[in-house]
Order: sequence, then C-alpha cells, then structure tokens
Amino acid sequence: MSITIIFGSDGGATKGVASKIASKCQARSVDIKVATTEDFENCHLLILGSPTYGDGTLQSDWEEHIGKLRSANLKGKKVALFGTGDQQTYPSSFLNAMGILYDEISERGANVVGFTETAGFDYLESTAERDGKFVGLALDLDTQSGKTEKRVTAWLSQLL
Ligand SMILES: Cc1cc2nc3c(=O)[nH]c(=O)nc-3n(C[C@H](O)[C@H](O)[C@H](O)COP(=O)(O)O)c2cc1C
Repeated sequence: MSITIIFGSDGGATKGVASKIASKCQARSVDIKVATTEDFENCHLLILGSPTYGDGTLQSDWEEHIGKLRSANLKGKKVALFGTGDQQTYPSSFLNAMGILYDEISERGANVVGFTETAGFDYLESTAERDGKFVGLALDLDTQSGKTEKRVTAWLSQLL
C-alpha cells in the first residue's frame, strides 16, 4: 500500500511528526510547498497534517497552496488527518486547522479515516472535534510532547 503524507510546518514540529509517521509506515513525506495535485491522488492512503496558527487558521503554506488540494480528485479516497496545536495557550481554537482540512476533504467526497478520542486533552473548543471525536490524530507537542510517540503508534495501528 502506498502512503503519501503532505504537511505544512512553520517551526518544524509538524514536519517532525510527518517524518516520524513516514518512517513507521514507509510513507513518502512531502511539504505542501512542493507537493503537486498528483501527490494527493497517486497513493492508496493520503495523510494530511497541519499546525494551527492565528486564532484557528491553517498553516500559511497550506493556505497558499490549498488550490492543489481543491483541484485533486478525492472522491472515495482514503484520507487521514493529523493536527498539531497547543491546548493551553489556544484552548478555544485547539487544532482548528485539522477541522478546516476535514471540511475541505469531506466536501470533495473523501473517505476520512482515523478519528480519535478526545480523552486526555483539556481545551474549550475545537472545530476538529465532531460528534465527540477528533477527526484525526490530535497532537500537542507544546504541552504534551511526551505523549506523542504513543499517540502516533496507536493511531497507525488503528489505520493500517
Ligand atoms: C502565533 C501562534 C498562534 C497559534 N495558534 C494556535 C491555535 O489557534 N490553536 C492551536 O491549537 N495551536 C496554536 N498554535 C500552536 C501551534 O500550532 C503549535 O506550536 C504547533 O506545534 C506548531 O507547529 P510547527 O512547528 O510545525 O509550525 C499557535 C502558535 C503560534 C506561535
């Protein structure tokens, strides 16, 4: 099964998570800055990751290059999401970028997999939470970095 991870990252945290996931499941990891629409399409499982910035926006490269996602044919495609954020400093927009990506791919008919439990997090609001679950792998490397390894491993075993 071919897996492509497409990520955006300002400070390197999300890029590091993408590399970690890639090494655990032999995936290709591609920065959204250089990704092509074909990168979205030519894989069995597509994994998308973004940190949240501003007061709940996508990472800036994702914003600039969102047209690549929008022009991809994602109908029926298996897609999983991961998000990085900081629940203590931004409790009212925790991981909102993952919610934005979820809406983008859902509108295009993707088959979104890899929802996770919200237990273990302490925040007020998140658009990445739908019907009591996160729409993908939720990570907080700012305040819970010690939990990252376990969360990534559990998520991948659920996905693969
Ligand atoms: C200016 C600024 C705004 C942020 N806004 C949010 C936010 O609204 N929600 C959130 O969950 N995290 C927010 N964060 C935390 C980042 O998403 C988090 O530090 C992430 O790990 C950064 O990933 P990166 O190193 O790949 O860029 C913000 C961080 C900064 C510096």
